[in-house]
Amino acid sequence: MPVLLSPPRNCQHQTILDWITRVSELCQPEHVYWCDGSQQEYDRLCQQMVEAGTFIRLNPEKRPNSFLARSHPDDVARVEDRTFICSRFEKDAGPTNNWMDPKEMRDKLTGLFQGSMRGRTMYVVPFSMGPIGSHISRIGIQLSDSPYVVVNMKIMTRMGSAVWDVLGQNGEFVPCLHSVGVPLNSGEIDAPWPCNHNQKYIVHFPEDREIWSYGSGYGGNALLGKKCLALRIASAMGRDEGWMAEHMLILGVESPQGEKTYVAAAFPSACGKTNFAMMIPPKGFEGWKIFTVGDDIAWIKPSPSGALHAINPEAGFFGVAPGTSYESNSMAMETCAKNTIFTNVGLTPDGDVWWEGMTDIPPEKLVDWTGQDWTPGCGRKAAHPNSRFTAPASQCPTIDPAWEDPDGVPIKAFIFGGRASQNQPLVYQSFNWGHGVYLAATLGSEKTAAAAGKTGDFRRDPMAMLPFCGYHMAEYFDHWLSMGRKLPEPPRIFRVNWFLKDEGGQFLWPGYGQNMRVLKWIVERAQGHGYGVETPIGWMPRYRDLDWTGLDYTHDQFNRLMTMDREAFKMQTVAHEQFFLTLKDKLPLDFLMEKELLVSRLWRSPAQIHPPK
Ligand code: GTP
Ligand code: SPV
Ligand code: MN
Repeated sequence: MPVLLSPPRNCQHQTILDWITRVSELCQPEHVYWCDGSQQEYDRLCQQMVEAGTFIRLNPEKRPNSFLARSHPDDVARVEDRTFICSRFEKDAGPTNNWMDPKEMRDKLTGLFQGSMRGRTMYVVPFSMGPIGSHISRIGIQLSDSPYVVVNMKIMTRMGSAVWDVLGQNGEFVPCLHSVGVPLNSGEIDAPWPCNHNQKYIVHFPEDREIWSYGSGYGGNALLGKKCLALRIASAMGRDEGWMAEHMLILGVESPQGEKTYVAAAFPSACGKTNFAMMIPPKGFEGWKIFTVGDDIAWIKPSPSGALHAINPEAGFFGVAPGTSYESNSMAMETCAKNTIFTNVGLTPDGDVWWEGMTDIPPEKLVDWTGQDWTPGCGRKAAHPNSRFTAPASQCPTIDPAWEDPDGVPIKAFIFGGRASQNQPLVYQSFNWGHGVYLAATLGSEKTAAAAGKTGDFRRDPMAMLPFCGYHMAEYFDHWLSMGRKLPEPPRIFRVNWFLKDEGGQFLWPGYGQNMRVLKWIVERAQGHGYGVETPIGWMPRYRDLDWTGLDYTHDQFNRLMTMDREAFKMQTVAHEQFFLTLKDKLPLDFLMEKELLVSRLWRSPAQIHPPK
C-alpha cells in the first residue's frame, strides 16, 4: 500500500483527493509527494537527479544553476503515431487523428498503469496554464513518476501551492496521469532515463477533458500541460466555449512612433516560432522593437468589445537548441544563460553545452548527446536535431511588459508559414477572413525532427495544428470561420515562407532579423495604412512596398521570392482537393467556394503570378 503523505492544508478538493487515492492504488508508487512549486523543492529534486545520474550539473560559472539531461535514444521526440484522441465516436476525432474506443482504451491503459510506479515516487503537480487567476487560464493536475517532468513543469507552467487556492473545493481541473512505464523491483537500479521501450500511449479523452500518458519522458509526450492540455484538450474546450487554442507565437511590434501592434503566428514544429518571437530588428530598423509574449502556444478569446485577446498559457520556453546562436537568436541565448535544463545537447570539457550551429567553429572535442566522445569530423551530431532547452520566459530580455496580463493582448494579424522550398511566395495577404482561413487550412510544410519519423517529406499541416487538434479537423475549420463571423473587425490573415531555396539548395531569403521587413509590411497592412496590390492569390507587396533600408537587396532578388508559377499553383489546388476529400464529411462548404474562386482567378492569370512593378 503506498504511503500517502498528507495533502497540503489548502487542498480541499474532494474529487482531486479521491482521484489521487484511486491512481495511487492503481499505480502503487512507493511514495506520494505533493509539489509546492518552491525553489527549494526544485533545487532538491535537481540535486537528487544529479546523484541518480539523470542530470549533469553544468559549470556554475558558465551556466549557473543549469543541468544537462540525456534521454534514451528511443525517446527523443513526440510520438504522433502513438497519440490518440479517444472521443466517444470515431467521427468526432476525424481522419487526421488516431482513435480508439474510449472504453477499450481505458481498459488497456488501466492494465498498463497497474503497478507502473512500483518502487518510485508519484509526484502531485498542480499547475495553471496561463497566469494564476486569469479568466482565460485553466488548471491541470499532473500525477507523474518522473522528477525530470516535475522540474520541467516548474519552468514551463505556474506550478505549486497557489493552484489549490484557485481550485477551492470544487474548481475545474484537467486530470493528467503520466508514467514512464518502468516499475522498479526492490533493489533494482534505475536507468538514468527510464522509458518504456515497447509501449507508448499519449491519450486524450476530449469529452471528459482527461489525459493519460504512458511510456515516454520527453517533451510534449510527458509535460502534459503543453501539447496535451494547452492544445489538444484546450482546442476542444475552445470549440465548445467560443475561444481558440493555437500553435502560435505571440509578439508585439513597436514602431519608432510608439505604435504597438500584437500579432500571432503559426509555424509548424521547428519552423522558426521561437526565432520570430524574439527577433532583433535588422540594420536600418533602429527605433523598432519586438516584444515577446509567447513562442509556442496562444489562447485567444474575444473580449467584450469584440477584439481578439491572446495569452501565452506557458511560463517557459521549450526551445529547439540546434541552430540557436548569438547570430540567429541572441535573445534565446540570453534566456538560456542560467536556470535552464538542456536535454540531448553536447557537453564541452569545461562543463558547458554545445550544439550544431551555436558557434561557427565547433569545440575540438566534447561528449555528444548519447554520452560518447565526439570530435568535429566524427560523422555524428553532437546534439540531437530535436534537442531542447527549458528556460523561464521571464529571463527573456525582450519579454513583453504585458506577457502576464490576465486579459491578454489584442491580436491584429494572424501569420501562417511552413517550410516550402518552392512555389510559396515570401508573403501575401488574404482577401478576407474566409479566404484567410482557407490559406491557413491549406498550409503545408516539409517535415522536421520535432516529430518522430522521416524528415523532409511534405505534408499538409493546417494552421500548424495537424498533430495538436483535439477533434475533427474540418470542424476546427468551421470553428475558425465562425469565430471570424462574430468579430466586428477580425484580424488580417497572412501567409509567409522563409524557406524558399535556389536550384543549389541554398536559402534564397536571409531570414531571421530580416523577417522584420516582412513583419513591418504585415503590421502596416493590419493597421490599414500599408500598400499592396491584388493578385490572383491575394494581396502582395511590391518591391517598393517593403522597407529595404540597411539591406542591399535588388528588385530581381525580390522577384525570385515573389514570382510564382501559375501552373504550379493550379496543381496545388489539386493537392488541396485531395486533402479536403479526406475531410469530406464535415468540410465547410465555404472551402469548396474558396477553392473554385482560386482556380478561376488562376485560370485567367498570366503564366507568372507576380506583384506588378
Ligand atoms: P516548436 O518548438 O517545435 O514548435 O518549433 P519552433 O517553431 O519554435 O521552432 P524554432 O524557432 O526553434 O525553429 C528552429 C528552426 O527554424 C531552425 O532550424 C532554424 O534554423 C530555423 N529558422 C528559424 N527562422 C528562420 C528563418 O528566418 N530562415 C530560415 N531559413 N530558417 C529559420
Ligand atoms: C513541437 O513539437 O511543436 C514542440 C515541442 O513545441 S514538444 O513540446 O515536444 O511537442
Ligand atoms: Mn510547438
